Amino acid sequence: MMASSVLVCFLHFLLLAVAKQASSSSKLVLEDGYTVSTLLDANKLKYPIHPFSLLPRPGQEDDLFLLDSASSSFYTLSFPISKDSAVDRYAGNGVDGFADGEANAAMFHRPRSFAVDSIGNVYVADRNNHAIRKIMQSGVTTIAGGYSNTTGHTDGPAQNASFSNDFDLTFLPRRCILLISDRGNRLIRQMNLKPGDCAHHAPPAGAGLGVPMVSWMGVLCSLIGLFVGFVARPFLASHVPNLRRPSPQQDVEALPNQGICRVRRHSLICKHVGTKPQSSRGQTKDLVNSEGRKSVKQGDDESTGKTE
Ligand SMILES: *[C@@H]1O[C@H](CO)[C@@H](O)[C@H](O)[C@H]1NC(C)=O
Ligand SMILES: *[C@@H]1O[C@H](CO)[C@@H](O)[C@H](O)[C@H]1NC(C)=O
Repeated sequence: MMASSVLVCFLHFLLLAVAKQASSSSKLVLEDGYTVSTLLDANKLKYPIHPFSLLPRPGQEDDLFLLDSASSSFYTLSFPISKDSAVDRYAGNGVDGFADGEANAAMFHRPRSFAVDSIGNVYVADRNNHAIRKIMQSGVTTIAGGYSNTTGHTDGPAQNASFSNDFDLTFLPRRCILLISDRGNRLIRQMNLKPGDCAHHAPPAGAGLGVPMVSWMGVLCSLIGLFVGFVARPFLASHVPNLRRPSPQQDVEALPNQGICRVRRHSLICKHVGTKPQSSRGQTKDLVNSEGRKSVKQGDDESTGKTE
């Protein structure tokens, strides 16, 4: 008896010593050279805003979406951000609830995460409504969990799917999906979006070269490409006997991180290429079918994209 309690005591001290060793061996690496500054102090604004999270707004140079979870609202703001910045209500009427339609009249219930697709649609993890909402310029819809009205972990047609009251969204443009980090259920889930949500539009004019310049560069690059190809072909053919001309499809698969860009109608159009276009297209079709009743807003998706 005595021996065993001595042993327990000894083990206890051993564990303490190990823990102490572990904690003292953790160290900080303080890297200098960064600066923090306050751009906007919401405490000093005339209207109460509680910045909860920010994401860039595509197509608008340096514009941002701001989620105010406490008032179930979304705002937009643009650089330069200062106390004089215009913070514009984008969606949500400031009251907790569950209502779609016109953005400023729509209601959310304490969303705490959102994602933004390539054309600026906002997907809202509307946690207390256990639903995923979509904010387009034309208005707000419910795209998942519209029927379930309760927590759960049901997969399948999105309107019948259910979620916990603690989940986050991440947009993956190349796969054209939303990833759902369903913390409450300890699940990683995915939801397919519609191809139009993932289309890449022309970059805003201010972000790059002017349209005529881009057109001329396209023509010039094509000519140079043709010339180089013409000159190099005999050389390659004689030095690389097994040279295999890759088909365009193989080119695409070899460079999954690259977009395809081409000049069309005076604008530079870039498309990112998904790694599994076949399967994701099939799943997307299911989703479209299951959401047939939401088709009122579907036609607007493309047109809401910023093209200027
Ligand atoms: C959702 O469920 C609550 C009670 O759980 C009920 O009061 C409410 O009316 C339901 N909403 C819808 C849209 O079915
Ligand atoms: C989805 O929910 C609706 C409304 O509750 C129901 O009518 C429909 O049968 C459900 N569909 C599936 C596939 O479960």
